[in-house]
Amino acid sequence: MKILILPDAQSASRRVADAITAQVAKKPDSVLGLATGGTMEPVYTDLVRRAQSGGCDISRVTTFNLDEYVGLAPGHPQSYRHFMTERLFAPLGIRDEQTHLPTADAGNCDQVAKDYERAINEAGGIDLQLLGIGHNGHIGFNEPTSSLASRTRVKTLTERTREANSRYFREDEEIPRFAITMGIGTILDTAEVCLLAVGDAKAAAVAAMVEGPVSARCPASALQFHRKATIVLDEAAASRLELRDYYDTVHPGGAETGL
Ligand code: PGA
Repeated sequence: MKILILPDAQSASRRVADAITAQVAKKPDSVLGLATGGTMEPVYTDLVRRAQSGGCDISRVTTFNLDEYVGLAPGHPQSYRHFMTERLFAPLGIRDEQTHLPTADAGNCDQVAKDYERAINEAGGIDLQLLGIGHNGHIGFNEPTSSLASRTRVKTLTERTREANSRYFREDEEIPRFAITMGIGTILDTAEVCLLAVGDAKAAAVAAMVEGPVSARCPASALQFHRKATIVLDEAAASRLELRDYYDTVHPGGAETGL
């Protein structure tokens, strides 16, 4: 794992936007794995700003999102499809046909999950997967005790996850209990991952992911098996890492120095 510790949340999210623009500059028709959540919002705002000022063209990519709530129609304001269309796809000029989310209702989840895996394979696999991390160590909606070999499937959300996501729902709205998510095995098959975590609420999960044992207790710890994982943190999210001296030696200030 490459551990990059940036001085603050803004420079950390800028660093992730840099990784995406570099990937797309190298391969304009890249297959990108995308994530939703509050952590990604400044990354997407930054990408849109860069594209609109002519700094990069991200319109030719194919995208696969990590997850989607079961039973929310694509037009539902809390659906991840809606989030992505509003914040990224429409402003960047990425057409719907280039984008994929595992949209399903209770009746067709298994088929949608299978088709999703097939579509990723047919696209040639994911070149760069963007990830956040939950307070409980989840990646995608792979909650603690998820199989580390899992593929795209339905997962029941923990109450903690539902509570964390309740801020996006109106009080009278039911927060979904189920989601379809890429599995941990699916994520491990991507060519490269870039995980962004900011804020001290993520510090314990980050320490378990990077320095803890590989365990389904912290699904993100499976990334220790990924062949090319970059973990981008701000100071607060890095605050519980014990091997900090080493990360600072290899990548001082989050710089990509060294061999
Ligand atoms: P957040 O979610 O960015 O809203 O904290 C991350 C996640 O749950 O994976």
